[in-house]
Amino acid sequence: MEIRKYSEEELKALPFMNSNLSIEERVEDLLIRLTLEEKFKLLTGRHRWETSPIKRLGIKPFLTSDGPNGVAPHSSNYKEATYFPVGICRASTWNRELCYEFGKALASETREVGAHMILAPGVNIIRTPMCGRNFEYQTEDPYLNKELTVPFIKGVQEERIAACVKHYICNNQETNRFTYNALVSQRALEEIYFPAFKAAVEEANVFSAMGAYNKINGFYACEHDYLLKKILIEKWGFKGFVVSDWNATQYIERPEDALNAYLTLEMPRARIYKRRNLQEAFEEQRFTIDVLDENIRRLLRVMFFVGLFDAPESLPKGYRNIKAHQNLARKMAEEGIVLLKNENKILPLEKDKIQKIAIIGPNADKQMSEGGGSSSVRPPYDITPYQGLKEKCGDHISIVNDASKADFVFLVLGLNHEPGNDCENADRSSYKLPKEQIDLIHQTTKANPKTIIILINGTPVSMTEWINMVPALIEVWYPGMEGGRALADIIFGEVNPSGKLPVTFPKKLSDSPAHKSELSYPGDNEKNVHYDEDIFVGYRYFDTEDIEPLYPFGYGLSYTEFTYDNLRLDKKVLSENDILTVEMDIINSGIREGAEVVQLYIHDVGCSIKRPEKELKGFTKIKLTPNQRETLSFHVKKENLMFYNENSDSWTIEEGAFKILIGPSSRDIRLEGDFQYKTK
Ligand code: BGC
Repeated sequence: MEIRKYSEEELKALPFMNSNLSIEERVEDLLIRLTLEEKFKLLTGRHRWETSPIKRLGIKPFLTSDGPNGVAPHSSNYKEATYFPVGICRASTWNRELCYEFGKALASETREVGAHMILAPGVNIIRTPMCGRNFEYQTEDPYLNKELTVPFIKGVQEERIAACVKHYICNNQETNRFTYNALVSQRALEEIYFPAFKAAVEEANVFSAMGAYNKINGFYACEHDYLLKKILIEKWGFKGFVVSDWNATQYIERPEDALNAYLTLEMPRARIYKRRNLQEAFEEQRFTIDVLDENIRRLLRVMFFVGLFDAPESLPKGYRNIKAHQNLARKMAEEGIVLLKNENKILPLEKDKIQKIAIIGPNADKQMSEGGGSSSVRPPYDITPYQGLKEKCGDHISIVNDASKADFVFLVLGLNHEPGNDCENADRSSYKLPKEQIDLIHQTTKANPKTIIILINGTPVSMTEWINMVPALIEVWYPGMEGGRALADIIFGEVNPSGKLPVTFPKKLSDSPAHKSELSYPGDNEKNVHYDEDIFVGYRYFDTEDIEPLYPFGYGLSYTEFTYDNLRLDKKVLSENDILTVEMDIINSGIREGAEVVQLYIHDVGCSIKRPEKELKGFTKIKLTPNQRETLSFHVKKENLMFYNENSDSWTIEEGAFKILIGPSSRDIRLEGDFQYKTK
């Protein structure tokens, strides 16, 4: 085949350069012009973050950037960027609109640094509190996970930046992360691990998915014919491309296994997709030209979508470190911080009645944006709890070092991003806080019983040995660059907390479903991790086995009270194509404005197969002024009642009784209603 050379003028006139044509027309036109060698070249990265250019056809490098909490310095020439609250803090907002706004802001910053794809969101299920990367992820619950993932991706992609949903799939621990083999049932995949990825494809048309490091049922994620080709592409209809996690192909032996499964882009550089390997495999017909073309088509589609061939003026403009993004980071922190304990309403504090406070502890003035691995961000500033409180206190309240001399003490503890804490590539070394911190709790509470604990961490920690010693506790997570201000506003009542836990806090690690034996975590001697808890992850396990958690899923306090009233179901019997409308009234019966997350769970009363005691199937976050009453409606459909039946290999529903359970947390059900499901 003769390789055609084009002048600049000729190139500009080619059909694929015409932005008035559809993306599919442009893809097909470019595809037929590529040589075999050029196609091979497009399958791998160069320089860590980008694909190779094909100058002959004007194909520029496609640039990717980390990560889920803001544009990362290591993938943007060390640029500063807005540091947003981490995934678990964002999930604690239970606010779909905020996730959408965050998606738009993150895309805008991605565009501004010249990248085309943001390696986010991270949606792996929080299976064990020990996973070093829980802070980057969202929740233990598949419904909440999907509900927050979809608006985020829509927000990103509306800005014509590709989102990359990661890590597909069962990347639930960092111990042996490159090699472990998740032994997981089809039911657990369908009910727990798939939903956020499935919704990312079906509801948000995500343009990229990242293949995880680990194996799933015997095969590496990046060569998994069943999970990539059969499920992601054929079943869900994924139109974008699969990218390997960085170096995730290192143990894959044959390039055709990955290529035939539709791993399109190998990052950060060629290992299995070396030109020689590909040429040989092609000549030996271990993959066909059609498979190669389909892989390339997927990548080109995204390149056109992000505007790689279009004039920059025709694309949404990017902004970085602007006030609007910083304000959004603050709003997310305000809604993501969770008030866990508030004995005798010690909080909020009244500024006029206080003269001195002490702010102590290892995390009081520690900036947490950088570190922890690929989700690191370098913001222009990062307001710590100390700085936020100091700013709020101004000249009215003095900050003292001696706890015994203060009206209130803020003891700021938790984890950090060093290995063994909330950090990539290693799991946590202990479920407990370090001994020095526990000693500090003893000393401080002895010196001053009005000690309020502020936790900065990205995953549940053990508290049983000290929680009774303190009157109040605030879970702040890693709240982003404006977090210290959001915290101070909550402490002094200018913001009423509304965050709710997206994970269960177990009293002790052995209560946690993934910790029944070493087989289920961290895995056996062959590095098989047996997902023996099956679908009973998080509160599904605690509720079904009746184990009392320290703090349950969905829990979080407010400075006001909410009354749940007047549940109405519009029918007693739901049939196949019907919708059950559930209505209830929510009243702010306290004295402050505040927001409540009303949670709807479903209980299957008499199923022939063991099901969780309850499962989240709806939630609404609503802001109310004192005495305001609003009616909320939820719609329940057949799909919300189904479970995956391994005997028939399909999603099934059994006729019979169901319960609607509504409340402010998974363990505080205020309204209950009954209905029957009948097929006809
Ligand atoms: C992480 C990914 C990240 C990639 C690029 C990997 O080690 O698992 O989440 O996007 O590196 O930094």
